[in-house]
Amino acid sequence: MSNNKVYIFDTTLRDGEQVPGCQLNTIEKIEVARQLEKLGVDVIEAGFPVSSPGDFNSVVEISKAVSNPTICALTRAVKKDIEVAADALKFAKRGRIHTGIGTSPYHIFSKLNSNPEAIIERAVEAVKYAKKFVEDVEFYAEDAGRSDNEYLARVIEAVIKAGATVVNIPDTTGYCLPAEYGEKIAYLVNNVPNIDKAIISTHCHNDLGMATANTISGIINGARQVEVTMNGIGERAGNTSLEEVVMTLKCHHDLALETGIDSKQIMKTSGLVSTLMRMPIQPNKAIVGRNAFAHSSGIHQDGVLKSRENYEIIDPVDVGVKESSIVLTARSGRAALKHRLSVLGYELEPSQLDSTYNKFLDLADRKKDITDEDLEILIGHEHKTDKQSLKLVSLQVMCGLSIIPTATVQVSFNGDVFTETASGNGPIDAAFTAVKALTKRRVRLEEFLIQAITRGSDDLGKVHVQVEHQGHIYYGFAAHTDIVTASVEAFLDALSKIL
Ligand code: KIV
Ligand code: ZN
Repeated sequence: MSNNKVYIFDTTLRDGEQVPGCQLNTIEKIEVARQLEKLGVDVIEAGFPVSSPGDFNSVVEISKAVSNPTICALTRAVKKDIEVAADALKFAKRGRIHTGIGTSPYHIFSKLNSNPEAIIERAVEAVKYAKKFVEDVEFYAEDAGRSDNEYLARVIEAVIKAGATVVNIPDTTGYCLPAEYGEKIAYLVNNVPNIDKAIISTHCHNDLGMATANTISGIINGARQVEVTMNGIGERAGNTSLEEVVMTLKCHHDLALETGIDSKQIMKTSGLVSTLMRMPIQPNKAIVGRNAFAHSSGIHQDGVLKSRENYEIIDPVDVGVKESSIVLTARSGRAALKHRLSVLGYELEPSQLDSTYNKFLDLADRKKDITDEDLEILIGHEHKTDKQSLKLVSLQVMCGLSIIPTATVQVSFNGDVFTETASGNGPIDAAFTAVKALTKRRVRLEEFLIQAITRGSDDLGKVHVQVEHQGHIYYGFAAHTDIVTASVEAFLDALSKIL
Protein backbone atom coordinates (compact mmCIF):
# COMPACT_ATOMS: atom_id res chain seq x y z
CA MET A 1 0.00 0.00 0.00
CA SER A 2 1.56 3.28 -1.02
CA ASN A 3 1.85 5.73 1.80
CA ASN A 4 1.02 8.79 -0.25
CA LYS A 5 -2.47 7.63 -1.21
CA VAL A 6 -5.41 8.97 0.77
CA TYR A 7 -8.46 6.68 0.53
CA ILE A 8 -11.79 8.39 0.04
CA PHE A 9 -14.58 6.80 2.10
CA ASP A 10 -17.85 8.38 1.05
CA THR A 11 -20.64 8.34 3.61
CA THR A 12 -23.13 10.53 1.73
CA LEU A 13 -25.56 7.60 1.61
CA ARG A 14 -25.25 6.79 5.32
CA ASP A 15 -24.18 9.73 7.54
CA GLY A 16 -25.26 12.26 4.87
CA GLU A 17 -28.61 10.62 4.37
CA GLN A 18 -29.44 10.89 8.09
CA VAL A 19 -30.38 14.56 7.53
CA PRO A 20 -34.12 15.05 8.06
CA GLY A 21 -35.88 15.53 4.72
CA CYS A 22 -32.93 14.19 2.68
CA GLN A 23 -33.93 10.54 2.58
CA LEU A 24 -33.54 8.83 -0.78
CA ASN A 25 -35.32 5.80 -2.13
CA THR A 26 -33.29 2.80 -3.35
CA ILE A 27 -33.36 3.88 -7.01
CA GLU A 28 -32.05 7.33 -6.12
CA LYS A 29 -29.34 5.80 -3.91
CA ILE A 30 -28.21 3.60 -6.79
CA GLU A 31 -27.99 6.67 -9.04
CA VAL A 32 -25.82 8.45 -6.46
CA ALA A 33 -23.69 5.33 -5.90
CA ARG A 34 -23.03 4.96 -9.65
CA GLN A 35 -21.98 8.61 -9.82
CA LEU A 36 -19.72 8.13 -6.77
CA GLU A 37 -18.12 5.22 -8.60
CA LYS A 38 -17.48 7.51 -11.61
CA LEU A 39 -16.06 10.10 -9.23
CA GLY A 40 -13.58 7.45 -8.09
CA VAL A 41 -14.30 7.03 -4.39
CA ASP A 42 -12.63 4.01 -2.77
CA VAL A 43 -15.40 3.10 -0.33
CA ILE A 44 -19.15 3.75 -0.37
CA GLU A 45 -20.84 3.48 3.01
CA ALA A 46 -24.20 2.35 1.70
CA GLY A 47 -26.28 2.23 4.88
CA PHE A 48 -27.00 0.84 8.32
CA PRO A 49 -28.78 -2.41 7.37
CA VAL A 50 -30.28 -3.31 10.74
CA SER A 51 -31.92 0.12 11.05
CA SER A 52 -34.70 -0.53 8.50
CA PRO A 53 -35.69 -2.87 5.66
CA GLY A 54 -35.18 0.10 3.28
CA ASP A 55 -31.56 0.54 4.41
CA PHE A 56 -30.97 -3.22 4.17
CA ASN A 57 -32.35 -3.28 0.64
CA SER A 58 -30.26 -0.26 -0.40
CA VAL A 59 -27.05 -1.98 0.72
CA VAL A 60 -28.06 -5.08 -1.26
CA GLU A 61 -28.92 -3.13 -4.42
CA ILE A 62 -25.89 -0.81 -4.27
CA SER A 63 -23.67 -3.89 -3.86
CA LYS A 64 -25.11 -5.22 -7.12
CA ALA A 65 -24.98 -1.90 -8.97
CA VAL A 66 -21.36 -0.84 -8.47
CA SER A 67 -18.21 -2.87 -8.72
CA ASN A 68 -15.11 -0.76 -8.16
CA PRO A 69 -15.59 0.75 -4.70
CA THR A 70 -15.69 -1.33 -1.54
CA ILE A 71 -19.24 -1.39 -0.15
CA CYS A 72 -19.44 -0.74 3.55
CA ALA A 73 -22.29 -1.38 6.01
CA LEU A 74 -22.54 0.21 9.45
CA THR A 75 -23.34 -1.64 12.65
CA ARG A 76 -23.25 -1.11 16.39
CA ALA A 77 -21.09 -3.50 18.44
CA VAL A 78 -24.07 -5.84 18.52
CA LYS A 79 -24.10 -9.39 17.09
CA LYS A 80 -27.50 -9.04 15.42
CA ASP A 81 -26.39 -5.82 13.64
CA ILE A 82 -23.27 -7.56 12.36
CA GLU A 83 -25.20 -10.58 11.07
CA VAL A 84 -27.70 -8.37 9.23
CA ALA A 85 -24.89 -6.25 7.74
CA ALA A 86 -23.07 -9.36 6.53
CA ASP A 87 -26.28 -10.60 4.92
CA ALA A 88 -26.85 -7.22 3.18
CA LEU A 89 -23.29 -7.30 1.81
CA LYS A 90 -23.65 -10.77 0.25
CA PHE A 91 -23.57 -9.39 -3.33
CA ALA A 92 -20.69 -6.96 -2.77
CA LYS A 93 -17.50 -7.72 -4.70
CA ARG A 94 -15.61 -6.25 -1.78
CA GLY A 95 -17.62 -5.83 1.41
CA ARG A 96 -16.62 -4.10 4.64
CA ILE A 97 -18.34 -4.13 8.02
CA HIS A 98 -17.99 -0.91 9.98
CA THR A 99 -18.60 -1.67 13.63
CA GLY A 100 -17.85 0.29 16.77
CA ILE A 101 -18.75 1.72 20.14
CA GLY A 102 -18.42 4.97 22.12
CA THR A 103 -15.11 5.58 23.89
CA SER A 104 -15.55 9.01 25.50
CA PRO A 105 -16.54 9.33 29.18
CA TYR A 106 -19.91 10.71 27.99
CA HIS A 107 -20.59 7.58 25.95
CA ILE A 108 -19.06 5.03 28.33
CA PHE A 109 -20.81 6.22 31.47
CA SER A 110 -23.92 8.12 30.54
CA LYS A 111 -24.93 6.64 27.16
CA LEU A 112 -23.83 3.01 27.59
CA ASN A 113 -23.95 2.87 31.39
CA SER A 114 -20.74 0.85 31.31
CA ASN A 115 -17.05 1.09 32.23
CA PRO A 116 -13.82 1.45 30.19
CA GLU A 117 -12.71 -2.20 30.46
CA ALA A 118 -16.12 -3.58 29.48
CA ILE A 119 -16.13 -1.28 26.45
CA ILE A 120 -12.77 -2.68 25.28
CA GLU A 121 -14.17 -6.21 25.63
CA ARG A 122 -17.28 -5.37 23.60
CA ALA A 123 -15.18 -3.65 20.92
CA VAL A 124 -12.88 -6.67 20.56
CA GLU A 125 -15.81 -9.09 20.51
CA ALA A 126 -17.56 -7.09 17.78
CA VAL A 127 -14.48 -6.98 15.56
CA LYS A 128 -13.84 -10.70 16.04
CA TYR A 129 -17.46 -11.49 15.23
CA ALA A 130 -17.45 -9.30 12.09
CA LYS A 131 -14.23 -11.02 10.98
CA LYS A 132 -16.19 -14.28 10.76
CA PHE A 133 -18.14 -12.79 7.82
CA VAL A 134 -15.74 -10.45 6.01
CA GLU A 135 -12.01 -9.92 5.89
CA ASP A 136 -12.28 -6.12 5.82
CA VAL A 137 -13.48 -4.82 9.21
CA GLU A 138 -13.39 -1.16 10.17
CA PHE A 139 -13.74 -0.16 13.82
CA TYR A 140 -15.06 3.25 14.93
CA ALA A 141 -14.37 4.70 18.37
CA GLU A 142 -17.43 6.92 18.61
CA ASP A 143 -16.77 10.36 20.11
CA ALA A 144 -13.02 9.76 19.86
CA GLY A 145 -12.71 13.56 19.61
CA ARG A 146 -13.60 13.81 23.31
CA SER A 147 -11.96 10.53 24.37
CA ASP A 148 -8.85 10.33 26.50
CA ASN A 149 -5.88 9.64 24.19
CA GLU A 150 -4.24 7.05 26.43
CA TYR A 151 -7.47 5.06 26.74
CA LEU A 152 -8.19 5.48 23.01
CA ALA A 153 -4.76 4.05 22.19
CA ARG A 154 -5.56 0.94 24.32
CA VAL A 155 -8.87 0.45 22.51
CA ILE A 156 -7.26 0.85 19.10
CA GLU A 157 -4.43 -1.55 19.91
CA ALA A 158 -6.97 -4.17 21.07
CA VAL A 159 -9.22 -3.93 18.02
CA ILE A 160 -6.28 -4.10 15.59
CA LYS A 161 -5.14 -7.22 17.45
CA ALA A 162 -8.66 -8.58 16.97
CA GLY A 163 -8.37 -8.04 13.21
CA ALA A 164 -9.54 -4.48 12.40
CA THR A 165 -8.10 -3.37 9.05
CA VAL A 166 -9.14 0.27 9.42
CA VAL A 167 -9.50 2.27 12.64
CA ASN A 168 -11.83 5.22 12.52
CA ILE A 169 -11.30 8.13 14.92
CA PRO A 170 -14.54 10.13 14.73
CA ASP A 171 -14.88 13.63 16.06
CA THR A 172 -18.56 12.81 16.42
CA THR A 173 -19.58 16.12 17.97
CA GLY A 174 -17.28 18.34 15.88
CA TYR A 175 -15.55 19.51 19.06
CA CYS A 176 -11.84 19.31 18.26
CA LEU A 177 -9.50 22.05 17.14
CA PRO A 178 -7.34 21.19 14.12
CA ALA A 179 -4.12 20.98 16.16
CA GLU A 180 -5.86 18.90 18.86
CA TYR A 181 -7.29 16.43 16.32
CA GLY A 182 -3.93 16.21 14.55
CA GLU A 183 -2.21 15.51 17.88
CA LYS A 184 -4.72 12.75 18.61
CA ILE A 185 -3.84 11.02 15.33
CA ALA A 186 -0.12 11.55 15.96
CA TYR A 187 -0.55 10.11 19.46
CA LEU A 188 -2.05 6.92 18.01
CA VAL A 189 0.68 6.68 15.37
CA ASN A 190 3.33 6.95 18.08
CA ASN A 191 1.73 4.96 20.91
CA VAL A 192 -0.18 2.06 19.36
CA PRO A 193 2.44 -0.66 18.82
CA ASN A 194 0.53 -2.46 16.03
CA ILE A 195 -0.72 0.68 14.25
CA ASP A 196 1.17 -0.30 11.06
CA LYS A 197 -1.33 -3.19 10.65
CA ALA A 198 -4.27 -0.84 10.04
CA ILE A 199 -5.19 2.35 8.21
CA ILE A 200 -6.19 5.30 10.39
CA SER A 201 -9.38 7.00 9.22
CA THR A 202 -10.71 10.47 10.00
CA HIS A 203 -14.42 11.13 10.43
CA CYS A 204 -15.05 14.77 11.33
CA HIS A 205 -18.25 16.67 11.92
CA ASN A 206 -18.63 20.35 11.22
CA ASP A 207 -20.30 21.72 14.36
CA LEU A 208 -17.64 24.42 14.77
CA GLY A 209 -16.98 24.74 11.03
CA MET A 210 -13.66 22.90 11.34
CA ALA A 211 -14.41 19.52 9.76
CA THR A 212 -12.19 20.05 6.71
CA ALA A 213 -9.38 21.64 8.73
CA ASN A 214 -9.50 18.76 11.23
CA THR A 215 -9.49 16.17 8.46
CA ILE A 216 -6.48 17.75 6.77
CA SER A 217 -4.72 17.94 10.12
CA GLY A 218 -5.47 14.23 10.62
CA ILE A 219 -3.98 13.42 7.21
CA ILE A 220 -0.87 15.47 7.89
CA ASN A 221 -0.39 13.48 11.09
CA GLY A 222 -0.75 10.06 9.51
CA ALA A 223 -4.39 9.24 8.66
CA ARG A 224 -4.74 7.70 5.20
CA GLN A 225 -8.51 7.34 4.90
CA VAL A 226 -10.99 10.22 5.14
CA GLU A 227 -14.72 9.83 5.73
CA VAL A 228 -16.51 12.53 3.84
CA THR A 229 -19.81 13.43 2.19
CA MET A 230 -20.61 15.26 -1.01
CA ASN A 231 -21.36 18.94 -0.36
CA GLY A 232 -20.53 18.27 3.31
CA ILE A 233 -24.08 17.11 4.02
CA GLY A 234 -24.77 15.31 7.25
CA GLU A 235 -26.56 15.61 10.56
CA ARG A 236 -26.53 19.02 12.30
CA ALA A 237 -23.76 21.12 10.64
CA GLY A 238 -22.75 18.19 8.44
CA ASN A 239 -19.67 16.07 7.77
CA THR A 240 -16.36 16.92 6.14
CA SER A 241 -16.99 17.74 2.53
CA LEU A 242 -15.39 15.45 -0.03
CA GLU A 243 -14.70 18.17 -2.56
CA GLU A 244 -12.90 20.40 -0.06
CA VAL A 245 -10.50 17.66 1.07
CA VAL A 246 -9.83 16.39 -2.45
CA MET A 247 -9.13 19.85 -3.85
CA THR A 248 -7.00 20.83 -0.84
CA LEU A 249 -4.77 17.81 -1.49
CA LYS A 250 -4.74 18.60 -5.20
CA CYS A 251 -3.78 22.26 -4.64
CA HIS A 252 -1.14 21.51 -2.02
CA HIS A 253 1.51 19.66 -3.98
CA ASP A 254 3.78 20.25 -0.98
CA LEU A 255 1.86 17.52 0.90
CA ALA A 256 2.73 15.01 -1.85
CA LEU A 257 -0.52 13.10 -1.35
CA GLU A 258 -2.99 11.83 -3.89
CA THR A 259 -6.51 10.44 -4.11
CA GLY A 260 -8.14 8.36 -6.82
CA ILE A 261 -10.80 11.01 -7.43
CA ASP A 262 -11.52 12.26 -10.94
CA SER A 263 -12.06 15.84 -9.86
CA LYS A 264 -13.79 16.73 -13.14
CA GLN A 265 -16.78 14.73 -11.85
CA ILE A 266 -17.13 16.87 -8.72
CA MET A 267 -19.70 19.38 -9.98
CA LYS A 268 -21.85 16.70 -11.55
CA THR A 269 -21.86 14.64 -8.36
CA SER A 270 -22.53 17.68 -6.23
CA GLY A 271 -25.49 18.72 -8.39
CA LEU A 272 -26.95 15.21 -8.37
CA VAL A 273 -26.73 14.92 -4.57
CA SER A 274 -28.17 18.38 -4.06
CA THR A 275 -31.08 17.75 -6.41
CA LEU A 276 -32.00 14.27 -5.24
CA MET A 277 -31.66 15.19 -1.57
CA ARG A 278 -33.46 18.51 -2.08
CA MET A 279 -30.63 20.20 -0.24
CA PRO A 280 -29.61 23.47 -1.92
CA ILE A 281 -25.94 24.43 -1.90
CA GLN A 282 -25.09 27.78 -0.33
CA PRO A 283 -23.81 30.09 -3.12
CA ASN A 284 -20.47 30.73 -1.39
CA LYS A 285 -19.80 27.04 -0.60
CA ALA A 286 -16.14 26.23 -1.32
CA ILE A 287 -15.57 24.43 -4.65
CA VAL A 288 -19.22 23.71 -5.57
CA GLY A 289 -21.11 26.90 -4.67
CA ARG A 290 -22.56 28.99 -7.52
CA ASN A 291 -20.16 31.82 -6.65
CA ALA A 292 -17.04 29.68 -6.14
CA PHE A 293 -15.63 30.77 -9.51
CA ALA A 294 -17.55 34.03 -10.03
CA HIS A 295 -15.77 37.36 -9.89
CA SER A 296 -17.78 40.51 -9.42
CA SER A 297 -15.53 43.32 -8.21
CA GLY A 298 -13.82 45.44 -10.85
CA ILE A 299 -10.30 44.91 -9.46
CA HIS A 300 -10.67 41.12 -9.35
CA GLN A 301 -12.28 40.97 -12.79
CA ASP A 302 -9.46 42.98 -14.30
CA GLY A 303 -6.91 40.69 -12.56
CA VAL A 304 -8.62 37.45 -13.67
CA LEU A 305 -8.89 38.68 -17.26
CA LYS A 306 -5.13 39.37 -17.27
CA SER A 307 -4.35 35.94 -15.83
CA ARG A 308 -6.74 33.51 -14.13
CA GLU A 309 -4.16 32.63 -11.46
CA ASN A 310 -4.18 36.21 -10.16
CA TYR A 311 -7.37 35.46 -8.25
CA GLU A 312 -7.98 31.71 -8.59
CA ILE A 313 -6.13 28.78 -6.98
CA ILE A 314 -8.23 26.16 -8.76
CA ASP A 315 -8.84 25.93 -12.48
CA PRO A 316 -12.67 25.60 -12.64
CA VAL A 317 -12.25 23.08 -15.46
CA ASP A 318 -10.58 20.75 -12.93
CA VAL A 319 -13.83 20.40 -10.97
CA GLY A 320 -16.08 20.22 -14.02
CA VAL A 321 -17.04 23.90 -14.31
CA LYS A 322 -16.64 25.19 -17.88
CA GLU A 323 -15.02 28.50 -16.97
CA SER A 324 -14.86 31.17 -14.30
CA SER A 325 -17.59 33.71 -14.61
CA ILE A 326 -17.32 37.43 -14.65
CA VAL A 327 -20.52 38.67 -13.07
CA LEU A 328 -21.41 42.11 -14.36
CA THR A 329 -22.63 44.32 -11.55
CA ALA A 330 -22.45 48.03 -10.70
CA ARG A 331 -18.93 47.32 -9.34
CA SER A 332 -17.63 45.99 -12.67
CA GLY A 333 -15.16 48.00 -14.67
CA ARG A 334 -14.83 48.75 -18.40
CA ALA A 335 -12.42 45.78 -18.83
CA ALA A 336 -15.10 43.29 -17.74
CA LEU A 337 -17.78 44.91 -19.90
CA LYS A 338 -15.47 44.99 -22.92
CA HIS A 339 -14.53 41.33 -22.36
CA ARG A 340 -18.15 40.19 -22.10
CA LEU A 341 -19.18 42.19 -25.16
CA SER A 342 -16.35 40.72 -27.17
CA VAL A 343 -17.41 37.20 -26.09
CA LEU A 344 -20.85 38.12 -27.44
CA GLY A 345 -19.26 39.28 -30.71
CA TYR A 346 -19.27 43.07 -30.21
CA GLU A 347 -16.01 44.98 -30.66
CA LEU A 348 -16.68 48.59 -29.69
CA GLU A 349 -14.65 51.71 -30.45
CA PRO A 350 -13.42 53.44 -27.24
CA SER A 351 -16.08 56.17 -27.50
CA GLN A 352 -18.87 53.59 -28.04
CA LEU A 353 -17.54 51.61 -25.10
CA ASP A 354 -17.66 54.77 -22.95
CA SER A 355 -21.27 55.50 -23.73
CA THR A 356 -22.29 51.84 -23.41
CA TYR A 357 -20.47 51.67 -20.07
CA ASN A 358 -22.42 54.68 -18.76
CA LYS A 359 -25.70 53.04 -19.78
CA PHE A 360 -24.52 49.78 -18.27
CA LEU A 361 -23.81 51.50 -14.93
CA ASP A 362 -27.19 53.18 -15.04
CA LEU A 363 -28.89 49.81 -15.56
CA ALA A 364 -26.66 48.02 -13.06
CA ASP A 365 -27.68 50.51 -10.38
CA ARG A 366 -31.28 49.40 -10.88
CA LYS A 367 -30.69 45.71 -11.43
CA LYS A 368 -28.60 43.26 -9.35
CA ASP A 369 -26.65 41.65 -12.13
CA ILE A 370 -26.58 42.15 -15.84
CA THR A 371 -27.16 39.24 -18.17
CA ASP A 372 -26.00 38.72 -21.76
CA GLU A 373 -29.53 39.51 -22.95
CA ASP A 374 -29.39 42.83 -21.08
CA LEU A 375 -26.13 43.65 -22.87
CA GLU A 376 -27.55 42.79 -26.29
CA ILE A 377 -30.37 45.18 -25.56
CA LEU A 378 -28.05 47.90 -24.32
CA ILE A 379 -26.07 47.60 -27.54
CA GLY A 380 -29.22 47.61 -29.69
CA HIS A 381 -30.57 50.51 -27.71
CA GLU A 382 -27.33 52.39 -28.26
CA HIS A 383 -27.54 52.13 -32.05
CA LYS A 384 -31.22 52.92 -32.10
CA THR A 385 -31.28 56.04 -29.97
CA ASP A 386 -28.80 57.73 -32.28
CA LYS A 387 -31.17 57.37 -35.22
CA GLN A 388 -34.44 57.93 -33.41
CA SER A 389 -35.96 61.39 -33.94
CA LEU A 390 -38.58 61.22 -31.16
CA LYS A 391 -37.00 60.79 -27.75
CA LEU A 392 -38.64 60.39 -24.39
CA VAL A 393 -37.54 63.17 -22.05
CA SER A 394 -39.74 62.40 -19.07
CA LEU A 395 -42.71 60.34 -18.10
CA GLN A 396 -44.99 60.55 -15.09
CA VAL A 397 -47.84 58.18 -14.50
CA MET A 398 -50.48 57.99 -11.83
CA CYS A 399 -52.37 54.77 -11.47
CA GLY A 400 -53.85 52.57 -8.80
CA LEU A 401 -57.08 51.04 -7.67
CA SER A 402 -59.25 54.10 -7.13
CA ILE A 403 -57.82 56.71 -9.51
CA ILE A 404 -58.11 57.28 -13.24
CA PRO A 405 -54.79 56.37 -14.85
CA THR A 406 -53.15 59.55 -16.10
CA ALA A 407 -49.81 60.08 -17.86
CA THR A 408 -47.77 63.19 -18.55
CA VAL A 409 -45.25 62.66 -21.32
CA GLN A 410 -42.44 64.96 -22.46
CA VAL A 411 -40.94 64.18 -25.85
CA SER A 412 -38.16 65.94 -27.75
CA PHE A 413 -38.34 66.27 -31.51
CA ASN A 414 -35.47 67.94 -33.40
CA GLY A 415 -34.36 69.77 -30.28
CA ASP A 416 -37.80 71.01 -29.16
CA VAL A 417 -39.55 69.52 -26.15
CA PHE A 418 -43.31 68.95 -26.13
CA THR A 419 -45.50 68.00 -23.16
CA GLU A 420 -48.91 66.36 -23.09
CA THR A 421 -51.14 64.82 -20.41
CA ALA A 422 -53.84 62.25 -21.06
CA SER A 423 -55.84 59.62 -19.25
CA GLY A 424 -56.70 56.11 -20.33
CA ASN A 425 -57.90 52.76 -19.08
CA GLY A 426 -54.41 51.90 -17.77
CA PRO A 427 -51.01 53.65 -17.42
CA ILE A 428 -49.76 52.46 -20.82
CA ASP A 429 -52.98 53.41 -22.58
CA ALA A 430 -52.84 56.88 -20.95
CA ALA A 431 -49.20 57.37 -22.02
CA PHE A 432 -49.88 56.21 -25.60
CA THR A 433 -52.85 58.59 -25.86
CA ALA A 434 -50.60 61.45 -24.73
CA VAL A 435 -47.93 60.49 -27.29
CA LYS A 436 -50.51 60.29 -30.09
CA ALA A 437 -51.80 63.75 -29.15
CA LEU A 438 -48.24 65.11 -29.18
CA THR A 439 -47.21 63.70 -32.51
CA LYS A 440 -50.59 64.39 -34.16
CA ARG A 441 -50.30 61.22 -36.19
CA ARG A 442 -53.29 58.99 -36.89
CA VAL A 443 -51.86 55.62 -35.99
CA ARG A 444 -53.43 52.35 -34.96
CA LEU A 445 -51.71 50.00 -32.59
CA GLU A 446 -51.70 46.62 -34.36
CA GLU A 447 -49.66 44.61 -31.90
CA PHE A 448 -48.20 45.16 -28.47
CA LEU A 449 -46.03 42.58 -26.70
CA ILE A 450 -44.35 42.82 -23.29
CA GLN A 451 -41.83 40.18 -22.23
CA ALA A 452 -39.75 39.84 -19.08
CA ILE A 453 -36.34 38.86 -20.38
CA THR A 454 -35.24 36.50 -17.69
CA ARG A 455 -36.51 35.65 -14.23
CA GLY A 456 -36.50 38.32 -11.56
CA SER A 457 -38.99 41.09 -10.84
CA ASP A 458 -36.03 43.51 -11.15
CA ASP A 459 -35.42 42.38 -14.72
CA LEU A 460 -35.60 44.27 -17.99
CA GLY A 461 -38.97 44.25 -19.75
CA LYS A 462 -38.82 44.03 -23.54
CA VAL A 463 -41.59 45.69 -25.55
CA HIS A 464 -42.35 45.17 -29.23
CA VAL A 465 -45.02 47.26 -30.96
CA GLN A 466 -46.45 47.31 -34.45
CA VAL A 467 -48.37 50.39 -35.57
CA GLU A 468 -50.31 51.00 -38.76
CA HIS A 469 -50.16 54.39 -40.51
CA GLN A 470 -51.66 55.05 -43.92
CA GLY A 471 -51.62 51.38 -44.84
CA HIS A 472 -48.01 50.76 -43.73
CA ILE A 473 -46.78 48.81 -40.71
CA TYR A 474 -43.99 50.24 -38.54
CA TYR A 475 -42.16 48.32 -35.84
CA GLY A 476 -40.83 49.67 -32.57
CA PHE A 477 -38.76 48.07 -29.82
CA ALA A 478 -37.41 49.10 -26.41
CA ALA A 479 -36.28 47.59 -23.13
CA HIS A 480 -36.30 49.07 -19.66
CA THR A 481 -36.69 47.91 -16.08
CA ASP A 482 -39.89 50.01 -16.02
CA ILE A 483 -42.36 48.48 -18.46
CA VAL A 484 -44.41 51.67 -18.91
CA THR A 485 -41.22 53.50 -19.93
CA ALA A 486 -40.24 50.60 -22.22
CA SER A 487 -43.70 50.71 -23.82
CA VAL A 488 -43.59 54.47 -24.50
CA GLU A 489 -40.04 54.23 -25.87
CA ALA A 490 -41.04 51.36 -28.18
CA PHE A 491 -44.03 53.38 -29.36
CA LEU A 492 -41.80 56.43 -30.03
CA ASP A 493 -39.36 54.15 -31.88
CA ALA A 494 -42.15 53.12 -34.27
CA LEU A 495 -43.46 56.69 -34.65
CA SER A 496 -39.92 57.96 -35.38
CA LYS A 497 -39.89 55.66 -38.39
CA ILE A 498 -43.11 57.25 -39.70
CA LEU A 499 -41.69 60.74 -39.25
O1 KIV B 1 -19.99 10.47 13.79
C1 KIV B 1 -19.78 9.29 14.11
O2 KIV B 1 -19.21 8.97 15.15
C2 KIV B 1 -20.29 8.27 13.21
C3 KIV B 1 -19.90 6.85 13.51
C4 KIV B 1 -21.11 5.98 13.53
C5 KIV B 1 -18.89 6.39 12.53
O3 KIV B 1 -20.95 8.56 12.25
ZN1 ZN C 1 -20.68 10.69 11.77
